[in-house]
Amino acid sequence: MATHKLLLLPGDGIGLETMAEVERIIAFFNAKANAGKFEIERDDVGGTAIDKHGVPVTDAAMAKAKASTAVIFGAVGGPKWDKVPYAIRPEAGLLRLRKELDLFANLRPAICYPALADASSLKREIVEGLDILILRELTGGTYFGEPKEIVTLENGEKRAVDSTVYTTREIERIAKVAFDLARKRGNKVHSAEKRNVMKTGVLWNEVVTATHKSYAPDVQLEHILADNCAMQLIRNPKQFDVIVTDNLFGDVLSDEAAMMTGSLGMLPSASLGAPDAKTGKRLALYEPVHGSAPDIAGKGLANPIATIASFGMALRYSCDMVREADLLDKAIADVLAQGLRTGDIMQPNMRQVGTAEMGSAILKQLETVAA
Ligand code: IPM
Ligand code: MG
Repeated sequence: MATHKLLLLPGDGIGLETMAEVERIIAFFNAKANAGKFEIERDDVGGTAIDKHGVPVTDAAMAKAKASTAVIFGAVGGPKWDKVPYAIRPEAGLLRLRKELDLFANLRPAICYPALADASSLKREIVEGLDILILRELTGGTYFGEPKEIVTLENGEKRAVDSTVYTTREIERIAKVAFDLARKRGNKVHSAEKRNVMKTGVLWNEVVTATHKSYAPDVQLEHILADNCAMQLIRNPKQFDVIVTDNLFGDVLSDEAAMMTGSLGMLPSASLGAPDAKTGKRLALYEPVHGSAPDIAGKGLANPIATIASFGMALRYSCDMVREADLLDKAIADVLAQGLRTGDIMQPNMRQVGTAEMGSAILKQLETVAA
């Protein structure tokens, strides 16, 4: 039986509470499941790491991350660390993990559970049954391009620069992932960029077109301007299957897509590296799309579903435990269908529960469906 090394990085705010629920699910699989065992390590990231070690992620934690089958990440940031220097702000810990592990492919599925169709701010018929996947390039573009600076000009004014940079290789490898994923889903890819304004958009469009021709002519490809994509997502989200886009557009579009599922508290994500030449294994980090939610942190109110579903994605993509991943997804859907809701997805006539109670209900349902 395979042993999977997991590094848990709960981070800050509600990350601590939602990760505690994931630990209970892991313990369940370790006690029961016969498909794999988990070896757990824990470390600090974000503000918690700044307080303890003076940096948002230590070299030791980075080494553990590189040696793990999967990193399960909570959330980082909070007002407590608003004043720390930019280079060591909590978010820098997450960005260092993404960059040094070369986790270039960020999968952000937006699935609208039938039970939650009325929790979305859009009409039920627009979102019910929605199942789209935003594939965000995660290690290039505006987040990492140089120069990135604020300089003082001779007249005393300041000038800020962020650079959006992409190479052929970076675009080609994310395009291939998009086509591979589409083949296992609805076989359709929308590539979103701003070729009408940005040089990176022109190259993005060219390389995706060429990659499609040589690598995946069987997949349906459409190009869409990123602003139009934002509009179409609200107008008719079910026209999409896979949307592949750059780092910054992907950040924005995935928050938008999240709201169609009812709440940001529902959305998991997977960040994958390239397959290792010898073993075929990809470095991987799994995290909820939501942040540390300082306003509700420590109160036991947070929705643990996005973090639990992120662990489900780890089962699926890093541990070859597809059956277990399906069972966990089913347990989540069942609990929602039973009417349990955390505050963020609360609706009339439903029963509002806290983080631990939602975790317990999912665990109990998992025991039932796995029996
Ligand atoms: C996300 C977050 C991060 C990002 C922040 C926390 C740096 O918004 O994962 O979407 O901008 O990528
Ligand atoms: Mg974001």
